Order: sequence, then structure tokens, then C-alpha cells
Amino acid sequence: MKKIIVAIDGFSSSGKSTMAKQLAAAVGYAYIDSGAMYRAITLYAMRHGFIRPDGSVDTAALCAALPDIRIEFRYVPEAAASHTFLNGEDVEREIRSLEVSSHVSPVAAVPEVRHALTAMMQQYGEAKGIVMDGRDIGTTVFPAAEMKVFVNASPEVRARRRYDELRAKGDEVDYEQVLANVQERDEIDRNRKESPLRQAPDALVLDNDNLTREEQSAWLLDTFRRIADE
Ligand code: CDP
Repeated sequence: MKKIIVAIDGFSSSGKSTMAKQLAAAVGYAYIDSGAMYRAITLYAMRHGFIRPDGSVDTAALCAALPDIRIEFRYVPEAAASHTFLNGEDVEREIRSLEVSSHVSPVAAVPEVRHALTAMMQQYGEAKGIVMDGRDIGTTVFPAAEMKVFVNASPEVRARRRYDELRAKGDEVDYEQVLANVQERDEIDRNRKESPLRQAPDALVLDNDNLTREEQSAWLLDTFRRIADE
């Protein structure tokens, strides 16, 4: 079985990261959450006042600070999971908040931010054997990935999933607010100039509105085996 790169792209909250994590664990690959990297930069920008009160990004200040931002994934034994670290601090929980979600897409539209993170992601993929999820992994980060999946689901189903997730963590959000955020991010991600969310022509499309997690992971594993065995 050859080592490959698996790129999973799709709209926000489409279940990409659950799929990517499950597949990586099942086949012994590293999982890289590219969205977490954009979220960590966004948190940095929020803390340093680079997001203006009207929500626009102070691009010049953010770009000047890019060399000072260090993002890593480290395994946290107490959580039995890999967490995102921003300049040495575990920010895994904070980057998933609705506040970060509401600022991340404008930050992710800044070309310099994308270039810096894309270079970092490409390094992770040098030895292959990784599963990475995001918006432009199969198109820009790894256009030659052996396996590309594009995940889709309706905005209502995706917002419901994200709402349940946030509520389960104790976050006081309401469904309409989450739906609005999902739709707004889709819009920005799809229409930005630099590397917009697009389905790669050679991606396999997975519409998961009506699939259970079990059906979805069975499909993913079968597809992986077929491609890696070729
Ligand atoms: O978890 P969810 O699917 O809602 O989003 P995410 O994967 O954590 O990504 C958060 C945001 O980062 C997205 O809405 C995009 O604006 C941006 N992003 C991106 O532009 N390119 C990527 N490869 C990954 C994320």
C-alpha cells in the first residue's frame, strides 16, 4: 500500500474534520486541521487589535506580525487528542468559539496569510501519509493529492451540527446566529479572490445530508483502500 495525501475540502461544518480525523486514526496517518491554523491566526489578530470594530482587518498590521505567529499541533495526553497551540499556548477551545468563527473568513481572505499557511501545510505533507481538511487543500495546497474528497450538506443541516457541538460545550448560542455565521462564511470563502473554496475537478463528491457517521466512514475507508492499493 503506497503512502498518499488525502485532501478533504468542503463548506463550513460539513463534517470534514470528523471524517478526516476518523480516517487518519483508522489508517495511521497524521491529521492536519488547516481551519484550526486560520482560526489561530484570527485569535492572534483579535487579541492584538487587528480586527477593527466594524469587523474589517488591519491587513498591514497583521502582515507585519506574521513572523511572530507560531502555530503548532501538539498531542495533549490529558485530552487524548492533538490540540492547536498559538505561540506555546493551548488555544484549542478558544479558536472554536463563535466569536473567532465570525472573524475568521475575512482573515483567511488575506493573501499573505494564505501564502504563509499554505507553505507551512506543504511542509507537513512532504513525507505524505497525511489527511488534511480545509477549503483549498485539493486545489491549491496539494493539487496533486492522490485522494480528494469534496463534502457537501445543506446550510441548515450544517448549522444544526455546529449548534449542537457548541451547546454541548456549554456555549450559549442560538441556532439562527449559527446559521447566519455558516452562510456568511460560505459566501466569503466562495467569493474571495485568493484561492476560493472550489471543488477540484478530480474530487470525489460526498453529499452527507442523509448519511450516518458510520456510513460515511465506511465509504471513506473503502475509497482510501482502493486508491492507496492502486
Ligand atoms: O469547522 P468549520 O468547517 O466551520 O471551519 P474550519 O475548517 O475550522 O475553517 C474556518 C475558516 O477558515 C473557514 O470558514 C475559512 O474561512 C478558513 N479556511 C480557509 O480559508 N482555508 C482552509 N484551507 C481552511 C479554512
